[in-house]
Formats: sequence, C-alpha cells, structure tokens
Amino acid sequence: MPQNSTWQWDLASISEMKIFSAPIQGYTDCAWRNAHSRIFAGDIVRYYAPFLRLEKGAFRNKDLRDIAPESNRDYHLVPQVIACEHNNFSLLVDKVVSLGYREIDINMGCPFPPIVKRHCGAGILPFPDEVRSMLGVTEEYPDVSFSVKMRLGADSPDEWRALMPALSATKLSHVTLHPRTAKQQYTGDIDMSQFSEFIAEATFPVVYNGEIHSMTDIDTLSARYPALHAVMVGRGLLYDPALVSGDPVNALPRIIKLHDRLFDSYKAALSGDAHLLAKMKSLWEYFLAGKGSRRCRKKIKKSTTIDKYLAAVNDFWDSYNDSDTTGE
Ligand SMILES: Cc1cc2nc3c(=O)[nH]c(=O)nc-3n(C[C@H](O)[C@H](O)[C@H](O)COP(=O)(O)O)c2cc1C
Repeated sequence: MPQNSTWQWDLASISEMKIFSAPIQGYTDCAWRNAHSRIFAGDIVRYYAPFLRLEKGAFRNKDLRDIAPESNRDYHLVPQVIACEHNNFSLLVDKVVSLGYREIDINMGCPFPPIVKRHCGAGILPFPDEVRSMLGVTEEYPDVSFSVKMRLGADSPDEWRALMPALSATKLSHVTLHPRTAKQQYTGDIDMSQFSEFIAEATFPVVYNGEIHSMTDIDTLSARYPALHAVMVGRGLLYDPALVSGDPVNALPRIIKLHDRLFDSYKAALSGDAHLLAKMKSLWEYFLAGKGSRRCRKKIKKSTTIDKYLAAVNDFWDSYNDSDTTGE
C-alpha cells in the first residue's frame, strides 16, 4: 500500500455500539480482566492489555505473564505495545505475534513525561514523519490487525490534523481517540469539538475514550456520533465495574465477588501479606470511588494488616447502599 493513498473502510457496515475495556497500567491486569469478564460476562467486547514495552532492550517477565494466552483464555484480549523506534516496535510486535495474537494496539497516547520526552506514547504525536514511519512497519505484518490509541496531541489539541494522512494510509482496524493533550494528563476538559472534527475527517473507524461514567454517557455518544465504531471505558469501569451491566441496583453481590476473586488471585500471585495489602489498597484508589461511606473507605486505606483490611472492607459493604457518602 503506497503511503500517500487512503484505505477504504465500509463505514456503513459497522454494527451497533461496542464497548471496549481500556488498558490501565497497574489496574486492568490479567487478574482484573479475568474476574471482570467472568462476573460481568458479555458486557465487554474486547479487553485491552496495558502496554508491553522493552526495558533496557529486554521484555519484563511480569508483562509477558500478564498477556500469556493460557492466563487470558476466557475473553477477547488485545495486547498493546509502546515503542520509541522501529527496532523496538518490530521486536514487540514479533513477541506478541509469537504468542499467537493477531490483533495489536499501538500506544500513541501515554502522557507520562519521561516517555513523552523520548517521542514515545503521546510524545510521537508532534512528529508526523515518525508516526508515518512507525505505521509503515505494520505493512510487514499482513496477518496482523493493528489499531492505534492516541490523544489529540502532545502540547496542542490540533496536532492530530497533521497525522491524518499517515493514519489514513495505514490499514488500521480503528483509531481510539482520547480527546485531551498529553499536557493535560488525565484531567481537565475533554475537547469534544476537536473530537467531532476528528471523526468527521476520519476515513477509518473511530473509537471514543474518556470520562465515560454511565450508560447514559454511552447513549449520548451513540446518538451524537452515529458513525462511532465503539467506546472504550477506562476508569469508569474501575469506579463502577457494573457500569455496563444494565442492573446497577443489584450489582453489590457481583461487586463483592469481583473484590474477593481479585483478593484470591493476588494472594496466590504475590509473596507475603505486605505485597497483598499494598496491591489491594492501591485498587481502592479508583474502586467504587464516590460509593459507600467515606469513613469506611478511609479505614480500608489506613489498614495495616490483612485482617484489618478485610474487616474494613466488610464495613464498607455494609455501608454500600447507604445514602451517607460523607461518612462523617
Ligand atoms: C493509571 C493509569 C494507567 C494507564 N495505563 C495505560 C496503558 O497502559 N495504555 C494505554 O493506552 N492507556 C493507559 N491509560 C489511559 C487509559 O486507557 C484511558 O485512555 C484514560 O484513563 C482515559 O479514559 P477514562 O477517562 O475512561 O479513564 C492509563 C490511565 C491511567 C489513569
């Protein structure tokens, strides 16, 4: 495919709204994906794994364990890669392909400054030639379906414009756009006017990502953008794992099951109570934020032993359906 031509997608054939689970490093790992897909079966069409990267030229065993096919059998997993140069990119793709995957997401959205500085993640967005050259490597893998996950830009919300020729010239299954710049990280206004222009200009399927917190948000996006291919939900699913289950009132037993399954998985995988406690407490940075009593939540975060943690979590479940979210 010559770089200056445009791939043609049959946008009319795209069916009803699909929901993808976003990659969130440190949270949507293999344990979480397995637990979520089993307990909220069928809600999510695809789970995207947090990015695989090379560290000093080598793969991290932890990352490879996370996408091992035998640990991710029960749902549709798409691994993601992040690379700064061609060689790295090919090595990462080769590894993912060797594991048997035929779908790979390319991270062009990570806003972490040390990564951005190296033209990695969202750091590549101001450099259309680098984007074109990385996407050009995908042509060496005709059997692999690639997608891109990106932001509007690194510093400026209109950097995406200069990337459209390269994106259009590549056979991508879709592009997921989080309508913020890297400078904004994960806060600040979502720029829907730039998103509207992006989807209007796109010749490829577009997936929306950012601040989806309810089914109403998804319905609103569907109504506003009939051509939208899918939505990708990140922190929304951590705040409320039952977000797309269609039965929020009766969600608590399933949420408790999710918590317990995660607890058991981390207990089996981590060595010692201190690691387990740290992992479970970090889950609560997002888990069910805004629900239950704040006092119980504080108790969970301050717990110093597994027994105290479990007692605090039980109190939290008792408080879950209370209107008292102040906890004072
Ligand atoms: C702690 C954290 C880790 C993340 N890790 C990744 C990652 O590995 N790959 C990626 O593409 N995006 C990553 N993201 C971005 C999310 O996938 C998503 O784009 C972002 O949170 C905005 O969507 P949301 O508002 O639905 O959460 C991460 C976000 C957070 C907060």
